[in-house]
Amino acid sequence: MRRPFVAVLALAAAAAVIPLASPAPAATGGVIIGGQPVDIAQSPWTVALSSRDRFGGTRAGQFCGGVVIGPSLVLTAAHCLGPLVLGGPPERVRDLRVIAHRGDLLSDKGEEIPVSKTWVNPAYDAAANAGDFAVLTLASPLPQSSVIRMAAAGDAAYAPGTEAAVYGWGDTSGGGDYALTLRSVGVNVLSDATCERAYPGNADGTYRAVSMLCAGELEGGRDACQGDSGGPLVARGRLIGLVSWGSGCGQPGNPGVYTRVSDVARVLGSRR
Ligand code: ARG
Repeated sequence: MRRPFVAVLALAAAAAVIPLASPAPAATGGVIIGGQPVDIAQSPWTVALSSRDRFGGTRAGQFCGGVVIGPSLVLTAAHCLGPLVLGGPPERVRDLRVIAHRGDLLSDKGEEIPVSKTWVNPAYDAAANAGDFAVLTLASPLPQSSVIRMAAAGDAAYAPGTEAAVYGWGDTSGGGDYALTLRSVGVNVLSDATCERAYPGNADGTYRAVSMLCAGELEGGRDACQGDSGGPLVARGRLIGLVSWGSGCGQPGNPGVYTRVSDVARVLGSRR
């Protein structure tokens, strides 16, 4: 997402100056925004997507997050594989890899696994940010213990008020301070009515309850941010969302929007 990515970052940076308006406790210094470092062993299903060719080696080429949903299957956001991020079709990124079991991007722990196949949800609508998911097939499998279960439709983990946690190596300030080690922050699942009120049809996107869910704090402060996309939102030990979009990061009234995993499960189920 070369251009828009930078544009969004600039927006986020501009917005980062505004939070003076609200004394949100954690507008700076988080994960992700408002979070803390976490041991990768606690979330072995969280992986980083990497291409050093495209993004350089200073952070091991990390550009998005992903989640292990089967020994050889990683779920991520469709927009992470879009031409605006990768500069062309994913097949052309020769060194596209999944980095697993490595919390510190600069360490040599864990493994870097080549991606043998990419599949982008054909219903992904980039203009609306809807249906934002894609599946990567790994060239070699991860252990079953690294797999997280997807919460099915109707699972209590989707209920408004549920405490969830989001994981990633993204911007920790809204100003382009990308993390070197995995971070996590707790956010609450919000009601569809709240999410619709926050995003009735903004320039950044429109909330659609079928394929999205939103989470955060109405007062702002805890959120995912740029670079966290595709990473997991977990509640009750199950995967409920993938980091997708939002207006700025951690701003009051602008919760983070996630791909709703029950919709992913529905689409993937109907393919089999
Ligand atoms: N689109 C962003 C990415 O590519 C994720 C933005 C999430 N924003 C938010 N406020 N939760 O990394």
